Amino acid sequence: MDAVKAAFDSIKLIKGQIISVGTCDADGNPNVAPVGSVRIVDDRTVHLIQGELGRTMKNLKANPRAVFSVVTRPKLRALLKDKDQNLGYRVYGRFTGVDESKEAVRDEADKILSRLPFLLRRSFRGFVEKNLKRVLEFEITSVRAVS
Ligand SMILES: Cc1cc2nc3c(=O)[nH]c(=O)nc-3n(C[C@H](O)[C@H](O)[C@H](O)COP(=O)(O)O)c2cc1C
Repeated sequence: MDAVKAAFDSIKLIKGQIISVGTCDADGNPNVAPVGSVRIVDDRTVHLIQGELGRTMKNLKANPRAVFSVVTRPKLRALLKDKDQNLGYRVYGRFTGVDESKEAVRDEADKILSRLPFLLRRSFRGFVEKNLKRVLEFEITSVRAVS
């Protein structure tokens, strides 16, 4: 799981690298949304800091299943030679709870600061205070590599 955690932690938002979260509504209609704040906490747990995510939240309330996808810096030249090169992961899980405390949001934001350039970290803290409301928790059910 260390490699999975490292893949999520290694994304650089400024380079356009993002994570996606996939959910489904009660009828099975799918949705995908970009999210920068997903963190693999340990073997069993994922955290995501939520701001809006309107449809994603609506879906999670109707159906707790979710999938997070990260693709890390594909080296296309190397990929042509080695089709088994690891390019990222899909982490599947189940929505289990919410922490609405300001401390939880602040702590979680601090843990993903390295995804931003040093000079943007202070403004990110301000953005978090203003716009991000709660930390969502998911229990990991399975992981698949992207290759
Ligand atoms: C690069 C990027 C990162 C984002 N990260 C987050 C995030 O961590 N948390 C969040 O609540 N919204 C985040 N958003 C905003 C959501 O993607 C946006 O609100 C989206 O429209 C929600 O889609 P939905 O209504 O289908 O859930 C991010 C957007 C972008 C472009």
